[in-house]
Amino acid sequence: MKIIRHVTDLREFLEKSTNVACVPTMGNIHAGHLSLVDLAKKNSDFVVTTIFVNRLQFNQAGDFTDYPRTLEEDFKKLEKANNDIVFCPEENDIYPQKQQYFIDPPKIAKKLEGRFRPDHFRGVCTVVMKLFNIVQPQVAVFGKKDYQQLAIIKGLVKDFALPIRILSGETVRAQSGLALSSRNVRLNQSELKEAPRLRSAMQIIYDAIKSGDRNFVAMEYAAGELLARHGWKVDYVVVRTQVGLLRPSEKDKNFVILGAATLGKTRLIDDLEVSSP
Ligand code: PAF
Repeated sequence: MKIIRHVTDLREFLEKSTNVACVPTMGNIHAGHLSLVDLAKKNSDFVVTTIFVNRLQFNQAGDFTDYPRTLEEDFKKLEKANNDIVFCPEENDIYPQKQQYFIDPPKIAKKLEGRFRPDHFRGVCTVVMKLFNIVQPQVAVFGKKDYQQLAIIKGLVKDFALPIRILSGETVRAQSGLALSSRNVRLNQSELKEAPRLRSAMQIIYDAIKSGDRNFVAMEYAAGELLARHGWKVDYVVVRTQVGLLRPSEKDKNFVILGAATLGKTRLIDDLEVSSP
């Protein structure tokens, strides 16, 4: 596996490559990322995993500085997963000067995560566009764990006619049901025990929808109450359409349950796709 730190070196190295897949990450690699690398491998000849903690998408400076950075361990895990290139630029490689141009994503980016993290997706779209321009992949892989991000990236690629096929990887979970996330390392022992409740609260909604219940507002309210009773600060637990993340109308059948809540000092998100009978 090759480790490349500069844009010019990566460009030179990839000059003659075709059928390249890009797996953008912010590092602290876990099994969820490795499953994306695996999907990328199956759909390309060459996988470039990028590791870059993107300041532009953080709302709080503390969250950015505290973000776990574990490059040496990440390299070992990616090497074992047969990843071809790790591109891990320094900040001034990606932002040699203060960024002047931004991708301003549409309405879908203003709700849910966008409501609680203003400009988060503006930062995500801007860096993803930049990474796409640097790597010039034919395929790019994103996890369903960040469901809204995935929907926004698909929209970005379509709207800008980028010649990139976006693949979505399933969320990888611990045995407890907790979705793997780089933020999980911030949970203490008792929080780690409590954390799977986010998924369980969403599972209750899933089961209700599967049994034909369509009273989404009541389900959302009950899930929020359940989490709050166990000490969570709930941002949202909602049912939305899989396409467009809209409030469901009578004819909709394919939904995604999306949740975001804070346990102690750690904000977790999760989602679960479900179709009604
Ligand atoms: O999902 C992430 O880790 C980040 O948002 C991404 C896509 C790598 C952009 O910084």
